[in-house]
Amino acid sequence: MDSLHPIALRDKTFVPYITQPQIETRVQQLAAALNDYYGTQTVLLMPILTGALRFVAGLLPLLEFPYELHCIQISTYATEMSAQKAPAYTLAPPCPLPGLPVLLLEDIVDTGHTLDFVIQDLLQAGETEVQCASLLFKPAAYKGAHRPRFVGFEIPNAFVVGYGLDYAQQGRHLPHLYQLAP
Ligand code: IMP
Repeated sequence: MDSLHPIALRDKTFVPYITQPQIETRVQQLAAALNDYYGTQTVLLMPILTGALRFVAGLLPLLEFPYELHCIQISTYATEMSAQKAPAYTLAPPCPLPGLPVLLLEDIVDTGHTLDFVIQDLLQAGETEVQCASLLFKPAAYKGAHRPRFVGFEIPNAFVVGYGLDYAQQGRHLPHLYQLAP
């Protein structure tokens, strides 16, 4: 494992926060909770690209229930009418849905707007069972209506990178999680 020291990405400095072994231990615990929850049911796993990929790569081998896999991707853009960013699919869920319980896999739930957008869309499409497992959750930033049921780490409201998460497309390769230096 590489040494833990502050790193510079573009104009910002990030300090080590959660190490890879700590993340892997927690991912094992999350997998156990998911295995308990789903039992022998077949589940439609929906990783939300791109930041969740590394989390999902560690999680999938630990899951014992059968699943189908369909990645989705969401971008946010400012509308002409409002400065507020509105989410939209760049890779949409399957249509029609296969009628399986859905488990969304996220890297981080921050304001919760992304998760609300996907869950509301799936419920409108007739899905009755939608859950989310997120590696990270920022309760202080959260303003949504659908909290993730399965959470790896609750973290403070500070920007994090590494373990798949980026800052302006940098830092995804880092094995640990780093937090913006105060
Ligand atoms: P939301 O605010 O919950 O809708 O989060 C939207 C997306 O913003 C997440 O899926 C991440 O891609 C990104 N994001 C939010 N907070 C962070 C962070 O601290 N580091 C990296 N990406 C973040």
